[in-house]
Amino acid sequence: RVTANVGVLISGRGSNMRSLVANATEAYKVVVVASNRPSAEGLVWAREQGIPTFALSPKEVGKQAYEAALDAALREAGAEYLALAGYMRLLSDDFVARWRDRIINIHPSLLPKYKGLDTHARAIAAGDAEAGCSVHIVTEELDGGAVLGQARVPIKSGDTPETLAARVLDEEHRLYPRVLAEWLTR
Ligand code: GRF
Repeated sequence: RVTANVGVLISGRGSNMRSLVANATEAYKVVVVASNRPSAEGLVWAREQGIPTFALSPKEVGKQAYEAALDAALREAGAEYLALAGYMRLLSDDFVARWRDRIINIHPSLLPKYKGLDTHARAIAAGDAEAGCSVHIVTEELDGGAVLGQARVPIKSGDTPETLAARVLDEEHRLYPRVLAEWLTR
């Protein structure tokens, strides 16, 4: 079985990226970590691990030039698949088309519920009994592609968006490496 080369895209802390690296099996290898925020905390850790990194701010060069440079860096590093992990920029339709069916994302809700931002506050406000996270294929529609796997947690009385986010994040860290490996060896 061939190991798939994966590029991980982050914007900040990068805890899901760390979990993908730490839990990689023979199914995949993280060959590059890229960020639209050069100050992303996760980049520091990736560099310490000796993982090649790429960072460029779209604000510096414009979205088109940013995505062209990102695409070139990912291919240069040998990435065949992309895993978005707290990547907070929308990828253009062109970019998604060039990586068609080779990009996945983790989203902190039980999709199709609560696409977009503030998922935990919205789940609490709705009075939901449970929340969770979803790994899905990235398409041109925000948080809209086929769901590959989900994990559920209870919403407890007294939960704030922060306490719920922490409970969901623990599940994200377990779910993402497992679903990525399963998807790549499907
Ligand atoms: C995660 O909850 C992810 O699902 C969401 O943003 C958070 C990123 O956290 N979209 P991290 O950067 O992986 O630590």
